[in-house]
Amino acid sequence: MSDHVTLFEVGPRDGLQNERVMIRADQKIALIDALSQCGVSRLEATSFVSPRAIPQLADAGDVMAGITRAPGVRYAVLTPNLRGFEAARAAGADEVAVFASASEGFSQANLNCSVAESFARFAPVLEAAEDAKIPVRGYVSCVTDCPFDGSTPPSAVARIATKLMTMGCFEISLGDTIGKGRPDTVYSMLAAVMTELPASVLAGHFHDTGGKAIRNIAVCLDAGVRVFDTAVAGLGGCPYAPGAPGNADTRVVMEWLEEHGVQTGLDADALGHAEAIAKAVRQGAAV
Ligand code: HMG
Ligand code: MG
Repeated sequence: MSDHVTLFEVGPRDGLQNERVMIRADQKIALIDALSQCGVSRLEATSFVSPRAIPQLADAGDVMAGITRAPGVRYAVLTPNLRGFEAARAAGADEVAVFASASEGFSQANLNCSVAESFARFAPVLEAAEDAKIPVRGYVSCVTDCPFDGSTPPSAVARIATKLMTMGCFEISLGDTIGKGRPDTVYSMLAAVMTELPASVLAGHFHDTGGKAIRNIAVCLDAGVRVFDTAVAGLGGCPYAPGAPGNADTRVVMEWLEEHGVQTGLDADALGHAEAIAKAVRQGAAV
């Protein structure tokens, strides 16, 4: 096993999108700038989505304009449609992401359209991104369980992941959106996906609602996955997925990996500073 794993920091996006207290742009900028000093190479900063859908991230343009770009850090954003992509490009995003669901119920709740319709919206994003030479990540949500449709068949995840890859995504992040995945269901899902795609293009995105994020990450690590999405101070959730608080905590995953001889390149002290900001921001304190 190679001894390095990339922790893709999603706290400023997946973490903050679910916070009910409105957080100011300058607080988000402070958090992102602190995270960019932690040794992360990829950082999901915000989303260019409907402000009605995610009011907390309505200031995406201001946030992107206000951050101090750190060398070696790739700043990523979510783009559900061409309009979002154009705004992301104007804001100087280094990487964008489209996000599909392996279940119809979550697609309707999250994107207000069917899975098939979501691909029709992603197609122009992939085309424009190719022209602009901006890499596109593809998310698949509800890879083991959906809050609306119940258990997700592994074959559905394999089909959606393969479709995103065929459309031009460079990486597929497999999302346990509501943290209901277990090592056995994650294993079955991954086995199905890996009949189509190699581990080298996969990432694991585990919400820790059920307290199994680390065990699920271990299953993926064993299978060769080397990118995991984590959030500073365990921020996280999705407002359209009832019961989805808490992405896997960056520090918890980092320390667990280090105990197993796997390096992440993160600086624990700098991460502590970012955690303090994350906690203060969450409590509405000034930073
Ligand atoms: P819609 O209602 O079907 O589309 O929404 P629409 O084209 O009719 O637009 C609705 C409104 O949004 C209109 O404004 C548009 O102008 C506006 P209104 O007339 O109501 O004032 N609009 C936009 N505004 C800004 N930027 C845009 C944009 N597009 C339309 N790009 C839509 C479809 C996709 C827009 C909407 O459903 C949406 O924005 N959804 C995003 C939901 C979201 O961000 N969810 C959280 C991220 S996914 C997640 O967390 C899971 C993940 O972490 C992995 C995992 O855990 O599984 C990634
Ligand atoms: Mg998520």
